[in-house]
Amino acid sequence: MATALFPSSNTVPLSNTVPVSNSEETWLPDFESNEDDTTLEMEGTTPHVPDAIDDFSLADVMRARDQGMGIRQAARQFQEAVTQLESRGMNLYRRTLLDPSDAQTRVYYSHDSHNREMIMLASNNYLGLTNHPRVVRAAQQAAEQYGTGSGSAPLLVGTFPITRRLESQLAELKHSEEACVFASGYQTNVGVISSLVRKDDLVVIDQLGHASMWDGANMSDAKVRAFKHNDPEHLDRVLTRNHQAGTKLVCVEGLYSMDGDLPRLREICKVARRHGALLLLDEAHSTGVLGANGGGAAEHFGVEDQIDLHVGTLSKSLASCGGFVTGDSDLVNYIRYFARSAMFSAAPSPMVMAAASAAIEVMHSEPARRTRLWENSHFVHSELKRLGFETSDEVSPIIPIIVGSMRGLRQMTLELHENNVCVNSVPYPVVPHGGERLRISLTANHTREQLVQAVEAIRIAGVHAGLISASAR
Ligand SMILES: Cc1ncc(COP(=O)(O)O)c(C=O)c1O
Repeated sequence: MATALFPSSNTVPLSNTVPVSNSEETWLPDFESNEDDTTLEMEGTTPHVPDAIDDFSLADVMRARDQGMGIRQAARQFQEAVTQLESRGMNLYRRTLLDPSDAQTRVYYSHDSHNREMIMLASNNYLGLTNHPRVVRAAQQAAEQYGTGSGSAPLLVGTFPITRRLESQLAELKHSEEACVFASGYQTNVGVISSLVRKDDLVVIDQLGHASMWDGANMSDAKVRAFKHNDPEHLDRVLTRNHQAGTKLVCVEGLYSMDGDLPRLREICKVARRHGALLLLDEAHSTGVLGANGGGAAEHFGVEDQIDLHVGTLSKSLASCGGFVTGDSDLVNYIRYFARSAMFSAAPSPMVMAAASAAIEVMHSEPARRTRLWENSHFVHSELKRLGFETSDEVSPIIPIIVGSMRGLRQMTLELHENNVCVNSVPYPVVPHGGERLRISLTANHTREQLVQAVEAIRIAGVHAGLISASAR
């Protein structure tokens, strides 16, 4: 057995309940402390006792730091762990793409020095537009016309005509008065949330909300609370208990990135309205994927006019890089001037603005892409269910396969890589112990043949990992 590099992690098993504060279960934010459900039992959560390099995850380093290990020692031991993993061909990270991110592409793996031609199930390129000729050409033309960088912050002189054009397209897509772009989706949430709330205000976020929402909320002086995943009744209780807060901001996602489930948006809108709270909907994964025009979950549920702020990224369906917020012009204009992540950071390059703008045009002119994306999602989801994998109940282009341990996750991911199927693995602390999973994402460009081949590789790896029966066909 390999040395346990962070031995403290062996002796301090984590609780299988969600603690109220000073949470070691770092994936999960604190719940309201005066609630009956503060020690909510998490389904599928098991105590975590890593005892070898096979079980090692970043959580062990975080815990060692919390327990007083100095940064120099932690960094050295972490490096040793990475070296051990790499020498055994077990590092799941730092793959290099050698071709455009597409349904099938070449990937370089340092551990076996191989360029592999892989079926790509690890990209959020949902509409398959990152290599679309119109999108690529738009980026090239923008570079020729405006150069490669913005050279300034958006409010100063970092805005180009193509930036303004993209903002109008985004506002139109979201049926909003105005839009403002940022250099990334992460920066959007951080800037939007931290600019809107102050001391005496309240932010309530779905417990599975993206890290960028939590970081934005924690940057402000506002009170920050979680509500139980997709539970409008719990949201109602949290808002009722904090009714004295000034500005109240509720943050949810249009398609949750780890489970691939949709929000109960109609009910959440009602609760937010009743409490006079602003509602922010992060459509990072749902823009382009949901809604008849690709407008996202708000369009899908017919509640566009009830969302105060639509946040999104340009890096998934829109095939580029950057983020955006849309809403009424007063709020968006306020954010433009007060969001520190926009004010103190360079504006996105004209190339990425042009690529996203062209991607929106292609999304509208080629609606069959969204149809294919959903056909592919239904096919893979039903195949995995039929084989007996534990996966989501809801169908979406994000399909989790629950593996349940770090060791199993490594084994399965590496076996799939050996068989040229590229998947993402999601360890603790991103998800709870026992919820370690492969995360598959589908695109419109996958062919049925590629998906059949990928499902067969997943079946065999699932049998080897003991997740499904050998007789499953
Ligand atoms: C829900 C959500 N919000 C925001 C982001 C950040 O977007 P970006 O990659 O553009 O920084 C992501 C990225 O995965 C996300 O899943």
